[in-house]
Amino acid sequence: MTTPYFVFESPEAASRKVASEIATLIRERSAQGRSAVLGLATGNTPLPLYRELIRLHREEGLSFRNVISFNLDEYIGLERDHPESYWSFMHHNLFNHVDIHPENIHLPSGTVAADEISDHCAAYDAAIQQAGGVDCQILGIGRTGHIGFNEPGTPATARTLLVHLDEITRQDAAPAFGGIENVPTTAITMGCGTILEARKIALLAWGAKKAGIVCEAIQGPVSEQVSASFLQNHPNAAFFLDQEAASEMNMDTNNN
Ligand code: GLP
Repeated sequence: MTTPYFVFESPEAASRKVASEIATLIRERSAQGRSAVLGLATGNTPLPLYRELIRLHREEGLSFRNVISFNLDEYIGLERDHPESYWSFMHHNLFNHVDIHPENIHLPSGTVAADEISDHCAAYDAAIQQAGGVDCQILGIGRTGHIGFNEPGTPATARTLLVHLDEITRQDAAPAFGGIENVPTTAITMGCGTILEARKIALLAWGAKKAGIVCEAIQGPVSEQVSASFLQNHPNAAFFLDQEAASEMNMDTNNN
Protein backbone atom coordinates (compact mmCIF):
# COMPACT_ATOMS: atom_id res chain seq x y z
CA MET A 1 0.00 0.00 0.00
CA THR A 2 1.05 3.58 -0.53
CA THR A 3 -0.64 6.79 0.52
CA PRO A 4 -1.69 9.06 -2.39
CA TYR A 5 0.40 12.18 -2.74
CA PHE A 6 0.14 15.39 -4.72
CA VAL A 7 3.12 17.51 -5.69
CA PHE A 8 2.83 21.31 -6.05
CA GLU A 9 5.22 23.96 -7.27
CA SER A 10 5.35 25.64 -3.86
CA PRO A 11 4.04 25.35 -0.29
CA GLU A 12 1.71 28.26 -1.09
CA ALA A 13 0.19 26.45 -4.08
CA ALA A 14 -0.35 23.29 -2.04
CA SER A 15 -1.81 25.32 0.81
CA ARG A 16 -4.26 27.07 -1.52
CA LYS A 17 -5.56 23.66 -2.63
CA VAL A 18 -6.01 22.39 0.94
CA ALA A 19 -7.54 25.71 2.06
CA SER A 20 -10.06 25.60 -0.76
CA GLU A 21 -11.10 22.07 0.25
CA ILE A 22 -11.52 23.25 3.85
CA ALA A 23 -13.50 26.29 2.69
CA THR A 24 -15.84 24.06 0.67
CA LEU A 25 -16.41 21.84 3.71
CA ILE A 26 -17.11 24.83 5.96
CA ARG A 27 -19.51 26.41 3.46
CA GLU A 28 -21.38 23.18 2.71
CA ARG A 29 -21.87 22.51 6.41
CA SER A 30 -22.91 26.09 7.03
CA ALA A 31 -25.55 25.85 4.28
CA GLN A 32 -26.91 22.76 6.09
CA GLY A 33 -26.85 24.54 9.47
CA ARG A 34 -24.16 22.13 10.68
CA SER A 35 -20.68 22.40 12.16
CA ALA A 36 -17.42 21.59 10.39
CA VAL A 37 -14.90 19.88 12.68
CA LEU A 38 -11.26 20.61 11.87
CA GLY A 39 -8.23 18.86 13.34
CA LEU A 40 -5.38 21.35 13.35
CA ALA A 41 -1.60 21.15 13.57
CA THR A 42 1.23 23.44 14.66
CA GLY A 43 4.77 23.88 13.34
CA ASN A 44 6.07 25.92 10.42
CA THR A 45 4.43 23.66 7.87
CA PRO A 46 0.77 24.76 8.21
CA LEU A 47 1.61 28.49 8.32
CA PRO A 48 0.91 29.12 4.60
CA LEU A 49 -2.36 27.21 5.00
CA TYR A 50 -3.40 29.40 7.93
CA ARG A 51 -2.41 32.54 6.00
CA GLU A 52 -4.61 31.43 3.12
CA LEU A 53 -7.56 30.64 5.43
CA ILE A 54 -7.22 34.12 6.95
CA ARG A 55 -7.17 35.62 3.45
CA LEU A 56 -10.32 33.67 2.51
CA HIS A 57 -11.97 35.02 5.67
CA ARG A 58 -10.96 38.62 5.02
CA GLU A 59 -11.34 38.79 1.26
CA GLU A 60 -13.85 36.11 0.34
CA GLY A 61 -16.23 36.13 3.29
CA LEU A 62 -15.36 32.68 4.63
CA SER A 63 -16.85 32.53 8.12
CA PHE A 64 -15.54 30.22 10.86
CA ARG A 65 -18.63 30.63 13.04
CA ASN A 66 -19.66 27.01 12.42
CA VAL A 67 -16.12 25.63 12.87
CA ILE A 68 -15.14 23.46 15.84
CA SER A 69 -11.40 22.86 16.12
CA PHE A 70 -9.31 20.27 17.91
CA ASN A 71 -5.55 20.67 17.91
CA LEU A 72 -3.29 17.67 17.88
CA ASP A 73 -1.09 18.36 20.84
CA GLU A 74 0.38 20.60 23.54
CA TYR A 75 3.61 20.66 25.55
CA ILE A 76 3.38 19.71 29.21
CA GLY A 77 4.53 22.45 31.55
CA LEU A 78 3.65 25.49 29.44
CA GLU A 79 0.96 27.93 30.47
CA ARG A 80 -1.43 28.90 27.69
CA ASP A 81 0.18 32.31 27.33
CA HIS A 82 3.76 30.98 27.10
CA PRO A 83 5.05 32.20 23.71
CA GLU A 84 5.93 28.65 22.62
CA SER A 85 2.68 27.02 23.75
CA TYR A 86 0.58 25.64 20.94
CA TRP A 87 -2.33 27.62 22.39
CA SER A 88 -0.35 30.82 21.71
CA PHE A 89 0.76 29.56 18.30
CA MET A 90 -2.77 28.85 17.12
CA HIS A 91 -4.19 32.13 18.40
CA HIS A 92 -1.33 34.15 16.94
CA ASN A 93 -1.36 32.41 13.55
CA LEU A 94 -5.05 31.69 12.97
CA PHE A 95 -7.71 32.03 15.65
CA ASN A 96 -7.16 35.74 16.44
CA HIS A 97 -7.68 36.58 12.76
CA VAL A 98 -10.94 34.75 12.02
CA ASP A 99 -14.42 34.68 13.57
CA ILE A 100 -14.23 31.25 15.26
CA HIS A 101 -16.12 31.14 18.59
CA PRO A 102 -13.58 30.84 21.43
CA GLU A 103 -15.68 28.09 23.03
CA ASN A 104 -15.28 25.99 19.86
CA ILE A 105 -11.46 25.96 20.17
CA HIS A 106 -9.93 22.88 21.80
CA LEU A 107 -6.31 22.09 22.66
CA PRO A 108 -5.02 19.66 25.26
CA SER A 109 -3.96 21.48 28.46
CA GLY A 110 -0.25 21.85 29.16
CA THR A 111 -0.85 22.52 32.84
CA VAL A 112 -3.13 19.67 33.86
CA ALA A 113 -2.00 18.03 37.14
CA ALA A 114 -0.02 14.80 36.71
CA ASP A 115 -2.71 12.67 38.36
CA GLU A 116 -5.41 14.13 36.12
CA ILE A 117 -3.67 13.61 32.77
CA SER A 118 -5.32 10.33 31.87
CA ASP A 119 -8.81 11.71 32.65
CA HIS A 120 -7.95 14.85 30.66
CA CYS A 121 -6.91 12.73 27.66
CA ALA A 122 -10.07 10.61 27.84
CA ALA A 123 -12.17 13.79 28.03
CA TYR A 124 -10.40 15.17 24.95
CA ASP A 125 -11.28 12.05 22.94
CA ALA A 126 -14.85 12.21 24.26
CA ALA A 127 -15.17 15.87 23.20
CA ILE A 128 -14.08 14.96 19.66
CA GLN A 129 -16.70 12.20 19.56
CA GLN A 130 -19.33 14.52 20.93
CA ALA A 131 -18.60 17.06 18.21
CA GLY A 132 -19.29 14.31 15.66
CA GLY A 133 -15.67 13.35 14.92
CA VAL A 134 -13.06 15.23 12.89
CA ASP A 135 -14.13 15.98 9.29
CA CYS A 136 -10.72 17.12 8.08
CA GLN A 137 -7.43 16.59 9.91
CA ILE A 138 -4.35 18.65 8.98
CA LEU A 139 -0.99 17.05 9.79
CA GLY A 140 2.68 17.93 9.51
CA ILE A 141 5.44 15.39 9.90
CA GLY A 142 8.37 15.45 12.30
CA ARG A 143 11.84 14.27 11.33
CA THR A 144 11.18 11.12 13.39
CA GLY A 145 8.15 10.43 11.15
CA HIS A 146 5.76 11.45 13.89
CA ILE A 147 2.27 12.85 13.41
CA GLY A 148 1.12 14.98 16.32
CA PHE A 149 3.75 13.91 18.85
CA ASN A 150 3.40 10.17 18.22
CA GLU A 151 7.07 9.34 18.45
CA PRO A 152 8.52 6.03 17.21
CA GLY A 153 7.00 3.15 19.16
CA THR A 154 3.56 4.68 19.69
CA PRO A 155 0.96 2.10 18.62
CA ALA A 156 -1.54 2.69 15.79
CA THR A 157 -4.44 2.28 18.20
CA ALA A 158 -3.35 4.83 20.82
CA ARG A 159 -5.95 7.31 22.04
CA THR A 160 -4.96 10.79 23.23
CA LEU A 161 -2.02 10.23 25.57
CA LEU A 162 1.00 11.58 27.44
CA VAL A 163 4.21 11.06 25.47
CA HIS A 164 7.93 11.55 26.03
CA LEU A 165 9.49 13.63 23.27
CA ASP A 166 12.24 12.14 21.16
CA GLU A 167 15.66 13.79 21.36
CA ILE A 168 15.48 14.72 17.63
CA THR A 169 12.10 16.40 18.17
CA ARG A 170 13.50 18.37 21.12
CA GLN A 171 16.56 19.40 19.10
CA ASP A 172 14.28 20.66 16.32
CA ALA A 173 12.34 22.74 18.85
CA ALA A 174 15.46 24.03 20.65
CA PRO A 175 16.00 27.25 18.63
CA ALA A 176 12.46 28.44 19.35
CA PHE A 177 12.95 27.77 23.07
CA GLY A 178 16.42 29.32 23.21
CA GLY A 179 18.16 26.00 23.93
CA ILE A 180 17.27 22.34 24.31
CA GLU A 181 17.32 22.62 28.10
CA ASN A 182 14.20 24.79 27.85
CA VAL A 183 12.26 22.37 25.62
CA PRO A 184 9.63 20.38 27.54
CA THR A 185 10.30 16.63 27.76
CA THR A 186 6.68 15.53 27.59
CA ALA A 187 3.49 16.45 25.75
CA ILE A 188 -0.11 15.41 25.37
CA THR A 189 -1.00 14.35 21.83
CA MET A 190 -3.96 12.88 20.05
CA GLY A 191 -2.98 9.23 19.61
CA CYS A 192 -2.71 7.66 16.17
CA GLY A 193 -5.98 5.82 16.78
CA THR A 194 -7.71 9.14 17.44
CA ILE A 195 -6.08 10.80 14.41
CA LEU A 196 -6.95 7.94 12.07
CA GLU A 197 -10.67 8.27 12.91
CA ALA A 198 -10.78 11.59 11.03
CA ARG A 199 -12.91 11.24 7.89
CA LYS A 200 -10.28 12.97 5.77
CA ILE A 201 -6.58 13.57 6.44
CA ALA A 202 -4.18 15.96 4.67
CA LEU A 203 -0.51 15.68 5.62
CA LEU A 204 1.56 18.66 4.45
CA ALA A 205 5.35 18.64 4.04
CA TRP A 206 7.78 21.08 2.47
CA GLY A 207 11.50 21.17 1.79
CA ALA A 208 14.35 18.74 1.19
CA LYS A 209 14.76 18.08 4.92
CA LYS A 210 11.46 16.18 4.91
CA ALA A 211 12.08 14.25 1.65
CA GLY A 212 13.53 11.10 3.22
CA ILE A 213 10.95 10.66 5.94
CA VAL A 214 8.10 11.53 3.54
CA CYS A 215 9.24 8.78 1.18
CA GLU A 216 9.47 6.28 4.05
CA ALA A 217 6.00 7.23 5.31
CA ILE A 218 4.35 6.93 1.88
CA GLN A 219 6.19 3.95 0.43
CA GLY A 220 7.89 2.19 3.34
CA PRO A 221 6.45 -0.47 5.61
CA VAL A 222 3.57 0.48 7.90
CA SER A 223 5.38 0.64 11.20
CA GLU A 224 5.22 2.10 14.70
CA GLN A 225 8.69 3.45 13.95
CA VAL A 226 7.15 5.97 11.51
CA SER A 227 3.70 6.90 12.74
CA ALA A 228 2.87 8.77 9.50
CA SER A 229 3.05 5.38 7.72
CA PHE A 230 -0.27 4.48 9.40
CA LEU A 231 -1.93 6.81 6.88
CA GLN A 232 -1.38 4.05 4.29
CA ASN A 233 -4.28 2.21 5.94
CA HIS A 234 -6.63 5.21 5.91
CA PRO A 235 -9.28 5.34 3.16
CA ASN A 236 -9.12 9.10 2.62
CA ALA A 237 -5.63 10.36 3.48
CA ALA A 238 -3.19 12.15 1.16
CA PHE A 239 0.17 13.92 1.32
CA PHE A 240 0.43 17.45 -0.09
CA LEU A 241 4.07 18.11 -0.99
CA ASP A 242 6.23 20.72 -2.61
CA GLN A 243 8.76 19.51 -5.17
CA GLU A 244 11.63 19.32 -2.68
CA ALA A 245 9.70 17.23 -0.18
CA ALA A 246 8.73 14.88 -3.04
CA SER A 247 12.27 14.68 -4.41
CA GLU A 248 13.02 11.19 -3.06
CA MET A 249 9.76 9.63 -4.22
CA ASN A 250 9.81 7.04 -6.95
CA MET A 251 7.48 8.90 -9.32
CA ASP A 252 6.29 5.66 -10.99
CA THR A 253 4.29 4.89 -7.89
CA ASN A 254 2.48 8.21 -7.74
CA ASN A 255 -1.15 7.21 -7.74
CA ASN A 256 -2.80 10.62 -7.97
C1 GLP B 1 6.05 19.28 16.03
C2 GLP B 1 4.53 19.16 16.00
C3 GLP B 1 4.08 18.38 14.79
C4 GLP B 1 4.73 18.97 13.54
C5 GLP B 1 6.23 18.88 13.65
C6 GLP B 1 6.97 19.41 12.43
O1 GLP B 1 6.63 18.11 16.43
N1 GLP B 1 4.01 18.52 17.18
O2 GLP B 1 2.66 18.41 14.70
O3 GLP B 1 4.27 18.28 12.41
O4 GLP B 1 6.62 19.63 14.78
O5 GLP B 1 7.19 20.79 12.53
P1 GLP B 1 7.49 21.72 11.30
O6 GLP B 1 6.20 21.87 10.57
O7 GLP B 1 7.93 23.02 11.91
O8 GLP B 1 8.53 21.07 10.49
